Amino acid sequence: MKVLSVLGSPRRGGNTEILLDEALRGASDHGGSCEKVVLRDLKITPCLEIYKCAEDGVCAIKDDMQDLFPKIEQAQRLIIASPIFFYTVSAWTKAMIDRCQSLWVKKYILKLPVSPVADRKGAFISVAATRGKKLFDGVRLTIKYFFDAIDVSYSHELFVRGVDEKGEVRKQEEVLQQAYELGRRLVVE
Ligand SMILES: Cc1cc2nc3c(=O)[nH]c(=O)nc-3n(C[C@H](O)[C@H](O)[C@H](O)COP(=O)(O)O)c2cc1C
Repeated sequence: MKVLSVLGSPRRGGNTEILLDEALRGASDHGGSCEKVVLRDLKITPCLEIYKCAEDGVCAIKDDMQDLFPKIEQAQRLIIASPIFFYTVSAWTKAMIDRCQSLWVKKYILKLPVSPVADRKGAFISVAATRGKKLFDGVRLTIKYFFDAIDVSYSHELFVRGVDEKGEVRKQEEVLQQAYELGRRLVVE
């Protein structure tokens, strides 16, 4: 089973990546064929709203999204991992999501299939330094709406509050296990 994961944190080896790697370990131990895309290594222009995609569902901006679109379309399972930055996903993650407006157009305007794969599922991992009750409410909505646009059902989430220093989530064995379990469940359920 093809699992595409997207690291939206610009901090390599940070809390988000540690949890994502645990989830990928859980997925590959249970038959997932996993790929990790690191957004900070890519050149992704934010959506320019030129709506060339309204003609055929294809984004006209020639940058690294052109390699990522087919991966998004062909994945059977998708994991998005982003830290909370100012109560939303990182700018890296948001730029990628906004560029998928072309897939939203494909689905809702052109009524074309977004993906050849049926029954796609996705998971979302997020971390933040503070502990507010509503900390993840906004990003949950963003990712749910994103998943809907690309025909992925939002099936698992892991939110971790109170982690700030680079890598400090590693001290929380229970959370690491939850991440591993998220990856496992994503491929076996
Ligand atoms: C630009 C920026 C904005 C942030 N905004 C928030 C925020 O709104 N709420 C919060 O609880 N933490 C916020 N944080 C803290 C990060 O979410 C936290 O340090 C997290 O562990 C970073 O994950 P990483 O190690 O994967 O980069 C912010 C950090 C940065 C760098």
